[in-house]
Amino acid sequence: MNNHQELQGLALVGLRGTGKSTVGRILAERLGRPFADADLEIEAKAGRTIRSIFAEDGEPVFRDWEERILAELTARTNMILATGGGAVLREANRLRLRAFGFVVWLVADPTELAERLQADPERLADRPALTSAGTLAELADVLQARTPLYRDVANLVVETAGKTPEEVASTILAKWPATAVTLAE
Ligand code: S3P
Repeated sequence: MNNHQELQGLALVGLRGTGKSTVGRILAERLGRPFADADLEIEAKAGRTIRSIFAEDGEPVFRDWEERILAELTARTNMILATGGGAVLREANRLRLRAFGFVVWLVADPTELAERLQADPERLADRPALTSAGTLAELADVLQARTPLYRDVANLVVETAGKTPEEVASTILAKWPATAVTLAE
């Protein structure tokens, strides 16, 4: 491992349900690096759930929290970071993620994501609705709107369909560091 790679962080971006937190934990464990989940850090610092921040203060206040926490986390080196699905919405966050290190976009078909989320009602109930369109339509809309933003920050795009989190982690490790944007099979 060269020095650059030792210092470089790895951030996971992508929609809800793509496995960012699970894959991030596996990577951190395999690499012996620290792991942080931006959503959990926000909840710990705010002392409230994300759902209640959305419900009581609205999405812009949540996005301010998210930007502050991402600024803190991306200032560190060497860590594995799972971000919230909307972390790419603000340009300031995209710049910080790029400077942080290697950014991996986990992709999955919205239908599969909706199925995964619906199979986990507790997790679904935990999350604020982003639009009033219902889970599947919301995921499809949000994916379309965010695709250029995810693409903009990603060094690597990993298709998660049909892969276990362990397999996704192995795919990422095999490709890190990449010199150009690569689509992993
Ligand atoms: C959001 C995704 C959530 C959380 C918040 C907003 C989004 O994170 O940050 O509910 O805008 O897609 P996960 O992707 O970890 O569920």
